[in-house]
Amino acid sequence: MESSAPGKVILCGEHSVVYGEPAIAVPVTALRCRARMEPAMPGSGLLLVAADLNQRTPLRAAAPDYPLAALARLVLEHLNCGEPDAVLTIHSELPIAAGLGSGAAVSVAAARALAGFLGHVLSEEVVSALAYEVEKLHHGTPSGIDNTVIAWERPVFFIKGQTPEVLAINVPLCLLIADSGFPAATREVVAGVRQRRESDPDFYNTRFARIGALVRRARIALEQQDLSALGQMLDANHALLVEIGVSTPRLEALVQTARLAGALGAKLTGSGMGGNIIALVPMEEAPAVAGALRAAGAAHVWQTVTT
Ligand code: PMV
Repeated sequence: MESSAPGKVILCGEHSVVYGEPAIAVPVTALRCRARMEPAMPGSGLLLVAADLNQRTPLRAAAPDYPLAALARLVLEHLNCGEPDAVLTIHSELPIAAGLGSGAAVSVAAARALAGFLGHVLSEEVVSALAYEVEKLHHGTPSGIDNTVIAWERPVFFIKGQTPEVLAINVPLCLLIADSGFPAATREVVAGVRQRRESDPDFYNTRFARIGALVRRARIALEQQDLSALGQMLDANHALLVEIGVSTPRLEALVQTARLAGALGAKLTGSGMGGNIIALVPMEEAPAVAGALRAAGAAHVWQTVTT
């Protein structure tokens, strides 16, 4: 029994989404996490194998806050099933702590594989809700956008606490994702923004509202297939993320490089303070912009086309 889940990028609206503003995220289908369930000796219980990290953890011995174990326990409880005698192996192509949704992808792939092994199919809503519980372990106060876009594997317009809207994207959206090579702990970056907002609520609330307005305009630009307008929204969103203090010189250099090389717009994606930037590029410009990003020191550059 095998299952997989994609990565994701937030097109616009990170951080403000935690405070009730909308955000748009798209799946990154080319970068995936895979989960495999295989039967094991009777009485052996469930062994959790994070193959890329060289970790082998029996469920029975796992700490309550070990994310993969927490996910397995949630799935078993949801299905009202006992622990199976099996091995659950995870392989992921997604970089960790890079804003590409690696934690949620592990949860979604693992939930589906475990449920499938037990003869059940979980709906997108259920998988997303179970993964959200585990996101709290990773992120503290997650908005829920990662687990949603990854469980649905469709572009989403997301507002915390509301039913997500699946967005039809009628024009191929070519994005380059460039890794700064520096990991970022979302939990700490989000906590830092929260702390700064507490000491200057007006400044932060104004920026969050501006980002929310940009996200709504980005949605219209997408509906109208106006990629140059969308690029401008991404640039403006990045400027506001700089103002709330989540960019770094490394991310700035990559964003500038992408723009100068022909991107329609570029911004950091995810929590910032490291991780990745995204650049919206005309399809024919993708090789040149990717080359410029590599030359500027990007640790990896991936291309994803959302249709
Ligand atoms: O993309 P990540 O996993 O780095 O999460 C960042 C998104 C935030 O808006 C900053 C936090 C959240 O929970 O939405």
